[in-house]
Amino acid sequence: MWRETHWREPEEVGLVDRRLPRWSEFRQLLRPARVPLDPTERRLHRAYTIADLRTIAAHRVPRAVFDYTDGAAEQEISLLRARRSFARVEFHPQALRDVSTTDTGTTVLGRRWPVPFALAPTGFTRMMHHEGERAAARAAQRAGVTFTLSTMGTTSIEQIAREAPAAHKWFQLYVWRDRAAGKDLVERARAAGYEALVLTVDTAVAGARMRDVRNGLTIPPALTPSTVLDAAVHPAWWFNLLTTEPLAFASLNEWQGTVAELVNAMFDPAVTFADIEWLRGVWPGPLLVKGIHTVGDARAVVDHGADGVILSTHGGRQLDRAAAPLEVLSPVVDAVGDRAEVLLDTGIMHGGDVVAALALGAKACLVGRAFLYGLMAGGERGVDRSIAILTREMTRTLQLLGVRGVAELNRSHVSLRRAGS
Ligand SMILES: Cc1cc2nc3c(=O)[nH]c(=O)nc-3n(C[C@H](O)[C@H](O)[C@H](O)COP(=O)(O)O)c2cc1C
Repeated sequence: MWRETHWREPEEVGLVDRRLPRWSEFRQLLRPARVPLDPTERRLHRAYTIADLRTIAAHRVPRAVFDYTDGAAEQEISLLRARRSFARVEFHPQALRDVSTTDTGTTVLGRRWPVPFALAPTGFTRMMHHEGERAAARAAQRAGVTFTLSTMGTTSIEQIAREAPAAHKWFQLYVWRDRAAGKDLVERARAAGYEALVLTVDTAVAGARMRDVRNGLTIPPALTPSTVLDAAVHPAWWFNLLTTEPLAFASLNEWQGTVAELVNAMFDPAVTFADIEWLRGVWPGPLLVKGIHTVGDARAVVDHGADGVILSTHGGRQLDRAAAPLEVLSPVVDAVGDRAEVLLDTGIMHGGDVVAALALGAKACLVGRAFLYGLMAGGERGVDRSIAILTREMTRTLQLLGVRGVAELNRSHVSLRRAGS
């Protein structure tokens, strides 16, 4: 009945009238893609997310180098958990707020940061790209982001200070068996203008990074039949390795062996809270303790003089089956947030992850792999790209949340869904 009264054939209602397009109309649709001529630019141009940079990185460097960066300890459950904790985040936006301007800046230990994340300390960074720490520090300087140099860095404290004099720089320390050597590093960092000291405390012994064991990774990479074969696949990486300053630790005498052997030989498994007090005596600036997992330890390190606590599972590279830092964040902030600044890392792959951590009380975050993927994908410009991607994602998330700046973020903006829901 309806069909008889209402239905009209397409020809009757003129839906399918056709005509030839005019050239002027056709031309408007032709938009040649802008493809950069420079190969690095071209590669980075295609990276819209940190995951895209990771994919490019996997093709740029030998398998063992990528696995060293990408991998974690044992069954990699700690890393997986941290990543999944960010998938549990549920945002609760507020509508009808004027978000035409957004402020991503925050104040950390008395310094104004334009974005609430810093580059985490990472060892052996010249293995990932021959420009290594220098590239990361220069990119950090350009963006006003804080760069943290690792004790296991492959560029010296002083060289980074020369290359990126205006960058905000932190120095990360492992406590050595030889305390005098540790004290010497701290004094050099102070003399070179580093603003804060980060003491990493989750490395009593080396984590079991099974990918490295299987790949037979050594520092520097040994020339074996498989690495020689690899040179055919990644000629640029090998060319850069062999034609630049030999890969060595800037703070250590020469080392030949695996990462685990090095850690176990040099680091002191007998470090205790008393060492924080010892450090307070040799370092007058802000002191953060990195690798804290529990409320009790957060309280204890602050009681012993720490100005900041970094909730971190070392990117899942040390103890496996650890809790996700995001899931212990709020109780730790409730316990020590009035006396110390609480930062967080592990698993951050998106600017929205940073926003969630801040809403749950973190002052700022550190990112490790997120900038290393950029470094492997395109050196200094790759790190620029990582920082730009994270910043853009953060800004968009804040605007969609109806928040004008990170200072406005609070727990009403985020909840954590039940695992698996
Ligand atoms: C390749 C690599 C090397 C690292 N080296 C160090 C180091 O020398 N000292 C340290 O305190 N943490 C080190 N870390 C841990 C980072 O500082 C940071 O805690 C971790 O990368 C955060 O997790 P994410 O990579 O998922 O962002 C390293 C991490 C990676 C991925």
